[in-house]
Amino acid sequence: MQIKSASFVASAAQVDQCPPENKPEFAFIGRSNVGKSSLLNMLVDKKGMAKTSSTPGKTQLINHFIINENWYMVDLPGYGFAKVSREEREAWKKRLDEYLLKRKNLYSVFVLVDARVTPQANDVEMINWLGEKGVPLAIVYTKTDKIKPKEVEENFKLMQDELFRFWTELPPVLFTSAEKKIGREEVLGFIGKYLK
Ligand code: GTP
Ligand code: MG
Repeated sequence: MQIKSASFVASAAQVDQCPPENKPEFAFIGRSNVGKSSLLNMLVDKKGMAKTSSTPGKTQLINHFIINENWYMVDLPGYGFAKVSREEREAWKKRLDEYLLKRKNLYSVFVLVDARVTPQANDVEMINWLGEKGVPLAIVYTKTDKIKPKEVEENFKLMQDELFRFWTELPPVLFTSAEKKIGREEVLGFIGKYLK
């Protein structure tokens, strides 16, 4: 798929403040600092469209971007950020769940997972929860440039073992690096199939 245009639309604190549900939407979720905003920028080939930072917790709101005038990319705040209070984290989790369950035009969710780490409980929980609720998803590994391919493979195998405790057939898995621009065609192609 070609990206002809990409621009910021609006930030919302909760689902009922999001733009009208009249266009297909694809959302990017994952632990804080996993590389959601960087991946969005890499996909549209526009540095700085979504704000990134080495300090976790940069994205605080639900950010909509319109692509090719006809579909939305959504950058969501990360989960599992340690430096906010438990109350704040729970309140955000509730708003995130609400967004994921209520947004009628949500075609698919991309759950981003850091390729460098062994399976994390909150990632596994999120993936299983989406499966249980019937929300379409794909798993996207990020930062694959930071470790050896063999290590990426090892972490993915461990994740597979973890997920097979719950899933009989795994959701699609894609491997990316925002830094090295790896996986761009794969993710855009995945979205493109939905848009056909
Ligand atoms: P929050 O909005 O805080 O939840 O973070 P985020 O998931 O949007 O992460 P963000 O895109 O801001 O990236 C976090 C840090 O990781 C930044 O310093 C990025 O430069 C770095 N980063 C993101 N993706 C990659 C990647 O593919 N490779 C490398 N080497 N670094 C990356
Ligand atoms: Mg972000």
